[in-house]
Amino acid sequence: MATTPSELKTPTDLASNRTQSVADALNGVLADAFTLYLKTKNFHWHVSGPHFRDYHLLLDEQATEIIGVTDDIAERVRKIGNTTLRSIGDIARRQTLADNDQEFVPAPEMLVELRDDNLKLVQRIREAREAAEAAGDTATSSMADDWIDQAEKRAWFLFEASRTG
Ligand SMILES: [Fe+2]
Repeated sequence: MATTPSELKTPTDLASNRTQSVADALNGVLADAFTLYLKTKNFHWHVSGPHFRDYHLLLDEQATEIIGVTDDIAERVRKIGNTTLRSIGDIARRQTLADNDQEFVPAPEMLVELRDDNLKLVQRIREAREAAEAAGDTATSSMADDWIDQAEKRAWFLFEASRTG
């Protein structure tokens, strides 16, 4: 990790070695949130079949929710004195969720893939939350609870929508 330029070291009472690990974890969560946002939009744009309208609208709602947390995640990193993502390339270097560039994905497979991705995002947020707890960064840890709750709700809706009986 590059060191934070002195001009960007926002003052904080937290120990800088600990906030660095929180920042690294949050930047990873942020990269995966952007990845999931674009995949959810991709599937919103390319979904097809008898449930088109339901799925098209559900995925748009979820994409809006995901992009909504990205700013909060990035600003937590800045508030604790570190730097955050700068580009699509930066996202690509840190993302752990896989892109899906297939020409055609059947709608049920889209729902399953997004459900799994949301649950992977939950795991990554939990890791960031643990780093925040270790650093005494209670604000990040309480915000992480909301991010987890939202991702679990998305996974729930995707699970129910993908049921066949
Ligand atoms: Fe749209």
